[in-house]
Amino acid sequence: PSTAPDILSPEFAADPYPAYRTMREDFPLIHHHTTGGYIISRYEDIVRAFKDPVFTSRNYDWQIEPVHGRTILQMDGREHSVRRALVAPAFRGKDLREKFLPVIERNSRELIDAFRDAPEADLVGQYATRFPINVIVDMLGLDRADHGRFHVWYTSMIDFLGNLSQDPEIAAAGLRTRDELAAYMIPIIQDRRTCPGDDLLSVLCTAEIDGTRMSDEDIKAFVSLLLAAGGETTDKAIAGLFRNLLAHPEQLAAVREDRTLIPAAFAETLRFTPPVHMIFRQPCEDVEVSGGTIPAGATVTCLIGAANRDGSRYADPDTFDIFREDLTTGSAFSAAADHLAFALGRHFCVGALLAKTEVEVGVNHLLDAFPAMAFADGETPTETGVFTRGPGSLRVRFAGRA
Ligand code: HEM
Repeated sequence: PSTAPDILSPEFAADPYPAYRTMREDFPLIHHHTTGGYIISRYEDIVRAFKDPVFTSRNYDWQIEPVHGRTILQMDGREHSVRRALVAPAFRGKDLREKFLPVIERNSRELIDAFRDAPEADLVGQYATRFPINVIVDMLGLDRADHGRFHVWYTSMIDFLGNLSQDPEIAAAGLRTRDELAAYMIPIIQDRRTCPGDDLLSVLCTAEIDGTRMSDEDIKAFVSLLLAAGGETTDKAIAGLFRNLLAHPEQLAAVREDRTLIPAAFAETLRFTPPVHMIFRQPCEDVEVSGGTIPAGATVTCLIGAANRDGSRYADPDTFDIFREDLTTGSAFSAAADHLAFALGRHFCVGALLAKTEVEVGVNHLLDAFPAMAFADGETPTETGVFTRGPGSLRVRFAGRA
């Protein structure tokens, strides 16, 4: 091809993987005419962008800041590390195992109970898009009766974050959500400051950074990030995992038989169909990448979805194979992996182990509740989204049911 693929084109939205291949092979550094930014797609280039401190954290001006406010995603150095350290313990180790595992199990069971006896269900609409957001709402110690309201809010924030073509209605809806969430959260934040409980929101409300507490607005921004980052990504990972396994029934049967394969199925899903396809960085000085120069201050789009299918890193990269030997799956106590779906370096997903735990619980519950599963008649799940991407629906038939 003589011209580079366009990440804003309808063909790209329909299926980005052929474009990713063309980019890796022929256009490893693209200067994008509409956004004015640069795009990289090779595994080794993206690893460098995540690890080399020359690449600072920066998102498009229209994207994260307007809907969330200033969050740890936009910070570097000590400002970033002290705030990240406030929430990190809740997402691993003893807190995760003892305090939050029962929360995860309860939320998964409640959702499955609603369709346990049905002949079929939409695993996206009835399970995946509900489960992780409900968990994070409960971890924060917010009102369980408001699960439905949070589902609406996080969907609207996600639409805003993925609004690469800048649709004005989506933008306006996202900003309305920002205001509604602030009006809901600020009185609760003020209350938790004086009456803290045993929840994650109280940790944020009482923490001191260099002797000072965070402002109401900073805490609201943190909560907003946790809702979107914790909800959407894991929802797409669960849906993607089932879609990939249902499309490969022999691998589904293997996982059903041997549940110790779930981490491999999760890691291979994250490599093959990552929930987050794009992450942004900004070099603080001119850098050479794949034979070209990215000028200081430019926004760089790192295409995780392309890097994860790089043939120089993975054998037969377009094949979904939970038994592949060239992919680390992480241990029981870590989610460390060499796919780039959680990024790498200082912003490596702080919720990775929580996500892994949710997926393990969810997959086990669903396989136990439904001894046989197949795509419902006529269901050919298609992925949607360019910034984040996953199945829009996943209608599944529980074979043997009337
Ligand atoms: C950061 C992906 C689950 C919270 C990130 C980043 C990625 C990512 C790619 C790096 C962003 C960047 O460098 O700009 C995922 C995927 C998940 C997942 C694929 C599920 C499979 C979760 C969960 C939470 C969470 C369950 C819990 C609340 C966060 C936070 C950050 C982050 C707070 C910012 C970390 C920082 O800036 O230091 N995630 N995530 N994520 N994730 Fe996740």
